[in-house]
Amino acid sequence: MFRTMDTFVIEGGAPLRGSVRVAVSKNSALPILAATLLVEGETRLEGVPALRDVDTLLRLLRALGCAVERNADGSITVAAQDLTPCEAPYDIVKEMRASFCVLGPLVARRGRARVSLPGGCNLGVRPIDLHLKGLRALGARLHVDGGYVEAQGPLRGEEMFLAGAFGSTVLGTANVLMAAALAPGRSVIEAAACEPEVADLARFLVACGARISGIGSPRLEIEGVTSLRGTRWRPIPDRMEAGTFLAAAAITGGDVTVEGASADHMGAVIETLREAGCAVERRPEGIRLRGPDRPKPIEVTTYPYPGFPTDLQAPITSLATVADGMSVFTEKIYPERFMHVPELNRMGANVRKHETSSIVHGVKSLSGAEVMASDIRGGASLLVAGLAARGTTTVHRVYHVDRGYDAIEEKLAALGARVRRVAEAG
Ligand code: EPU
Repeated sequence: MFRTMDTFVIEGGAPLRGSVRVAVSKNSALPILAATLLVEGETRLEGVPALRDVDTLLRLLRALGCAVERNADGSITVAAQDLTPCEAPYDIVKEMRASFCVLGPLVARRGRARVSLPGGCNLGVRPIDLHLKGLRALGARLHVDGGYVEAQGPLRGEEMFLAGAFGSTVLGTANVLMAAALAPGRSVIEAAACEPEVADLARFLVACGARISGIGSPRLEIEGVTSLRGTRWRPIPDRMEAGTFLAAAAITGGDVTVEGASADHMGAVIETLREAGCAVERRPEGIRLRGPDRPKPIEVTTYPYPGFPTDLQAPITSLATVADGMSVFTEKIYPERFMHVPELNRMGANVRKHETSSIVHGVKSLSGAEVMASDIRGGASLLVAGLAARGTTTVHRVYHVDRGYDAIEEKLAALGARVRRVAEAG
């Protein structure tokens, strides 16, 4: 289904108009799928999009003895049947770092785990020390051998502080929270990530019978229970997909309503788009944005939630490339997350990287070029830029984009964008 050699070919200049429905959040669905390993009986997740990353996690769950079905209504059912497999192999984990989130559930439910270390990625070093710190605090005996983390239970509740030099960790909090849900006694995670996706996971666990308080705050308190039962769950709307559509609407001077988007999760993004000159309205059905004739310059610093999300740094940078003045983007989460910069410059943008910032001198217009996606959001930023560029833009390696966006070219085309997927020769 996902052909690795596909490209997006975009004829820029068409303003986007109309409504688009936002998908269920990938970054919510992935840890919740990992959490099904904790559950006795069947879990049914609704609305989960057919993304490459979701498929990777489903493949891992099957390798871990789960029965996994995609149902006709688009929902996914997962039931952990054979509890003996405890290994998450390199083959799968290297495809997607979120796979590492099976470590906590496996050691909590099955008493042991062997999970490949994820290694580096295009966003930088991305260590997993905080995941290990939290699980160690819960009593897991861990050691690293041959590129794998081996973990042994039993676990017990404990208090811990879970932030590092770059603040809290989203998947680290998820990993430890899942383990603590079944660890006997009381656990406290201080400096827990407050991202809506972590809160969604916590609420899912509560629906399965977990006892968690402080959800959405930096202090999670967990009373371990002996078992969790299956439930039905629809993860929250994808604020990164919604933000990408808003950026696309803004850069084309369009008028788009992103149906189902939760403005409550997108305060920093909405504020930034308003500073860029967009009219952004919360509406009962979602978020409506009307783009300016030409964007105004903006200053953006990424922070953990509720700060501006690092995942939208690249797509909003595309908007700033055509602003009337100089914008500055500073990364406080992933200091090396600027792979999109040289590609945007190939399209005529004037962006210079300086330490952990990019300085964007707005140009009047971009020109279409051949560019290459390097990661999910960097790829999305090239698509956004291509929508506004004069002439034809070809984005290569769109398999990165397919990891996190379900048929994005079809959704954009339905809004009037001239974009199509083309299988690359070779
Ligand atoms: N960090 C550590 N030690 C750790 C874990 C993280 O130092 O053990 C550092 C990281 O290097 C980074 C910061 O802490 O500087 C925050 O990283 P975090 O752990 O929060 O990132 P993550 O959980 O691995 C998730 C999302 C990313 C998103 C980040 C930040 C998923 C599946 N992934 O990653 O999403 O950029 O949070 O918000 O939820 C994407 O969807 O394209 C994507 C990359």
